[in-house]
Amino acid sequence: MTRRSAVGVALAALTAVGPAAPATAQLPERRLALPGDPLPGLSPVELEEFRLGLEDFLEVEDAGEGLGPAYNNTSCAGCHNVPAIGGIAPMTTTRAGIREPDGTFRDIEPGRGSLFQIFSIPTHACQSVIPPEANVIAKRVPIPLFGAGLIEAIPDATLEALADPYDLDRDGVSGRAPIVPDLVTGEPRVGRFGWKSQRATLLDFGADAYRNEMGITNDLFPGELTFRLSERQLALCDETPDPEDVIEPSTGRRGIDNFESFMRLLAPPPRGPTTPRVAAGRRVFDVIGCAACHVPALATGPSSNPLFDRRPVPLFSDLLLHDVGTGDGIRQAGAEPGELRTPPLWGLRFRRPLLHDGEAATAIEAVQRHANEAALAREGFERLPPADRDALAAFLDSL
Ligand code: HEC
Ligand code: HEC
Repeated sequence: MTRRSAVGVALAALTAVGPAAPATAQLPERRLALPGDPLPGLSPVELEEFRLGLEDFLEVEDAGEGLGPAYNNTSCAGCHNVPAIGGIAPMTTTRAGIREPDGTFRDIEPGRGSLFQIFSIPTHACQSVIPPEANVIAKRVPIPLFGAGLIEAIPDATLEALADPYDLDRDGVSGRAPIVPDLVTGEPRVGRFGWKSQRATLLDFGADAYRNEMGITNDLFPGELTFRLSERQLALCDETPDPEDVIEPSTGRRGIDNFESFMRLLAPPPRGPTTPRVAAGRRVFDVIGCAACHVPALATGPSSNPLFDRRPVPLFSDLLLHDVGTGDGIRQAGAEPGELRTPPLWGLRFRRPLLHDGEAATAIEAVQRHANEAALAREGFERLPPADRDALAAFLDSL
């Protein structure tokens, strides 16, 4: 169901060049797209896909449309809206599981995963509950989606070439490229999305979020996520037949297709101005070894679409898994309990709090939490004279 009123404001800037405009109309080429803007240079068809995607991303769902029985929010945008739609929100999701005496991690119920939902639809008989045997409980903050299509278009081979799982170059930094299935083709791919690089494609991540964060079943996640519930109990809680995300006859597209288009076509976040102090901070960043993991730029592979054809992706990440001592204790997809993906630092100035659990208020606080594989870089930071520390902070705040 479409609620155009809810999207009116956000779409106001786009409708002027929407499908009703002549076929040659495009967004004016701007040097810097603002957060929430589409990539500059979309074709009219892509612009329409972006518009449909934004509409669905904003749509608030209710139980009649499949929301629940357990859920964390009623729309994608509910958790992805700062500083613009596609960003973050100052909230955390909760994960839980069991750490065995030998240190290994397992899900509380096989196949259920570790995400728990804070809300449920009335009558609340299917509220998800963290059971007392859980001995690991972790929080995660949302990840902004600006530039996600460029990240998706980085070839697996690029990430595999950066990986150094056995630290053969002995620089103290390893880095693993986890292999996860592409849920559409079944092919093995290098995971790159999520704090644990748990998914390889935007379609897969969106479908996962639709079911796991909102309770809306879809072609990739066709069953409701239950926890210790019988089929009978579930039928009483949620009467909508699965999959709940069906093709919208007017567009021929599913919700998950729309989410994918919106995320794929979102422009990367703009950089702040490069003052002399920012430039000095960038040099400090390279010298003390931050760039070993926060790789300044990668590139997309060859593509028939010029928007994604061998484009630079200045993301400040290798997208690999590392143990920097902040691991949340959860094993997920190809990631060990102690590992996290190097978060891209582009758009850092638009997001607070920092770190996967939101435990750092400032970029410098985040740096001070780095250990293990990042111990050398953190020690380098600690030895910096105050002027260099300030320059580094200015650089990070310019991203
Ligand atoms: C309840 C809040 C919440 C809702 C609702 C939500 N997300 Fe998220 N999103 C998150 C959190 C938290 C993360 C980080 C998850 C993790 O890795 O553990 C995330 C991460 C992502 C990522 C990974 C981005 C990257 O670059 O790694 C994508 C893609 C995404 N969400 C898409 C969606 C879509 C599409 C929807 C709607 C179907 C959605 N999200 C709904 C909270 C939410
Ligand atoms: C060994 C790889 C590695 C090195 C070296 C490294 N980082 Fe990180 N960085 C990470 C990982 C992994 C995280 C995520 C940790 C977490 O969320 O708990 C992270 C998180 C961050 C964050 C928080 C980002 C966010 O979105 O929450 C900042 C800021 C940051 N690093 C800056 C730096 C700086 C500056 C340096 C150099 C002093 C550095 N890092 C060195 C891997 C590394």
